[in-house]
Amino acid sequence: MTGQPRLDDHLQRYSETSSHAPAVAAAVDAIAMASIEIADLIGTGELADAAGVTTGHNSDGDLQRNLDVQADAILRRCLAGLPIAALASEEMREPQIGDREGRICVAIDPLDGSSNIDVNMTVGTIFSILPTPDDPGLAFRQRGSSQLAAGFITYGPQTSLVLTLGDGVDIFVLDRRSGCFRLARGAVQISEACEEFAINAANRRHWDPPVRAFVDECLAGVEGPANHNFNMRWIGSLVAEIYRILTRGGVFLYPSDARPGYGDGRLRLTYEAHPMAFIVEQAGGSASTGRERILDLAAQTLHQRVPLVMGSSNEVRRVEELHCDPLLAASVSAPLFARRGFFRL
Ligand code: F6P
Ligand code: MN
Repeated sequence: MTGQPRLDDHLQRYSETSSHAPAVAAAVDAIAMASIEIADLIGTGELADAAGVTTGHNSDGDLQRNLDVQADAILRRCLAGLPIAALASEEMREPQIGDREGRICVAIDPLDGSSNIDVNMTVGTIFSILPTPDDPGLAFRQRGSSQLAAGFITYGPQTSLVLTLGDGVDIFVLDRRSGCFRLARGAVQISEACEEFAINAANRRHWDPPVRAFVDECLAGVEGPANHNFNMRWIGSLVAEIYRILTRGGVFLYPSDARPGYGDGRLRLTYEAHPMAFIVEQAGGSASTGRERILDLAAQTLHQRVPLVMGSSNEVRRVEELHCDPLLAASVSAPLFARRGFFRL
């Protein structure tokens, strides 16, 4: 491990490649430093009880845990003073305005999957880095394809940083002895041989027919149109699911469903779907709502949700095909996604 290239050297080389790059490199470095602190906090068993305590609700109505709040504070402290024009977080109702001359804007989900904290399962930090637009008020209304960089950190048995700077995906692992991240896997590619699907199957009765049809095909295995068998996985932590898909392929779905409040699924476009879609596409996979490419969408509001299907391209394409099937589409019960408030640029 000690001979592997270090994240800071990788960022140093990248920072010479464009006018935005020094600010992007500084932000990624700061997030990596913050993640070492967050990993320490999560790894302290003694704190785990306190970490699981619920402190209230965030602006989107999710239960907010002590550790959500602490992770948010650590990230904001580490990012303070950098040339960042606006910082958005799942834990803040509105973006925080920063350096007016800053060339980049950053959106974070400080602790994804935090309902897993008290059961000692993998959680993570997600980030998206965008260029500052002419009107900084539109910072987080850009389409996902405008992102300059995106990444996530998983706090599991290893603390791993998955990073795209727009030219492929690299995975760095925290070398705890030297306190720095080192390259573990470069140019990661999602396998096309998809053998696992991930969805919260408890919601089956609320799904739209195209989603039900897709999962039925997976369950039918070699006896159905997919013509091969699948395993099912559901960790309840987006970062862990996408890490698995980057490692051995598969498809993840959090679709819209008929439950009140789930008409656009559960995951947030700006700081969950956009960065994950950028990473997945950079690794050769696909990310879609079932009808549209995630990176073509732009949010109208900061905490806006979006149905999300991502992973191995063939499976994502199959979900899209089923959404176009006139027989299945005609019986969609949840309000049509096409009526929802996204900018299509
Ligand atoms: O951030 C939302 C999140 O915790 C994701 O990490 C995860 O994929 C999802 O919610 C789990 O949702 P549910 O509890 O509905 O299965
Ligand atoms: Mn999250």
